[in-house]
Amino acid sequence: MKKKVLSALLSVAMVATLLTGCGSSAKPAEEAAAPAETTAEAEAPAADAEAPAEEAAGGEGGLVGVAMPTKDLQRWNQDGSNMEAQLKEAGYEVDLQYASNDIQTQVSQIENMISNGCQLLVIASIDGDSLGTVLAQAKEAGIPVIAYDRLIMNSDAVTYYATFDNYMVGTKQGEYIRDALDLENADGPFNIELITGDPGDNNARFFFGGAMDILQPYIDAGKLVVKSGQTSFEECATANWATEAAQSRFDAIIASNYSDGTKLDAVLASNDSTALGVANSLAANYTGDYPILTGQDCDIANVKNMIDGKQSMSIFKDTRTLATQVVKMVDAIMKGGEAPVNDTESYDNGTGVIPSYLCEPVFADKDNYKELLIDSVYYTEADLQ
Ligand code: BGC
Repeated sequence: MKKKVLSALLSVAMVATLLTGCGSSAKPAEEAAAPAETTAEAEAPAADAEAPAEEAAGGEGGLVGVAMPTKDLQRWNQDGSNMEAQLKEAGYEVDLQYASNDIQTQVSQIENMISNGCQLLVIASIDGDSLGTVLAQAKEAGIPVIAYDRLIMNSDAVTYYATFDNYMVGTKQGEYIRDALDLENADGPFNIELITGDPGDNNARFFFGGAMDILQPYIDAGKLVVKSGQTSFEECATANWATEAAQSRFDAIIASNYSDGTKLDAVLASNDSTALGVANSLAANYTGDYPILTGQDCDIANVKNMIDGKQSMSIFKDTRTLATQVVKMVDAIMKGGEAPVNDTESYDNGTGVIPSYLCEPVFADKDNYKELLIDSVYYTEADLQ
């Protein structure tokens, strides 16, 4: 059954490719940029250009599959609902799925999207290395793939990548710690501990790498001391970015290094779910002043902690901005064009550089959160009570 649908899709895609004359391009980006839908639209270019949204209203723009990793983390719920709302507004039908952080579930969801006739896939992967086989099917069926937020590795089916500048997220966190401790001028030494994300998430290495590019020179100079001795990415990683895993690793670090009153000055946490684990562990086990603690996402629990002085900063990645950008990319591809990108160097997924659009992350703390989060109607005051 699945095979039949696949081969039907394949023939449609091949016909479309012939009609639009894109068959000779070697690059997956361009090859995949001419889904079946395009052909009909290409016949009425003027109307396309003038009123795409109205024309496509009611899902006539085509079916787009959106695969999100989990509902457990606030941000992915926002990403999913923003994508769904904005795609629908642009006239597309949407198949939105969450996979409970289970790789096999995500693979099955994508298989279903392909067999149900999705014409484009937007995927925030759970494990960037586990989608090769299912995406080979997508490629065979001529379905373009946009990697959403997290790069999908080692698959030549990935057409585009849209994300926030992940390296910049890390450098902003490192710079925050550098400036808060005044590392340029103060003598120190200061004690710091490090915690990052899931090893299967390519972003985690960018976050950690960006932060360590700022902090490592101070560690080398002895101004920053990591008493646990855990400084490599692998030692600092947190499976699935889970709060509980972060918390139990921190319980052990505090028990071995800071239970005798030794001061912990700073914690680099790559995101909010891990920062929450650190904050929980500190509340339960640490008696000194709260250390500087970084984060990312501006999740509600963490913004509340910022207001209460239990987390120093977070990185605001407005999921509405990313969704808007991805909808622009979807729209361009579905109309047979090329998606807008602003980076063609940074993200090599093992099969070559994937053309990317990087949105800019913004630094947030208790002084600017109102302007960033409430004035922009990302949250209401009541959300943060
Ligand atoms: C995202 C972060 C998020 C983390 C955990 C990363 O890929 O970029 O925003 O905190 O995953 O879900």
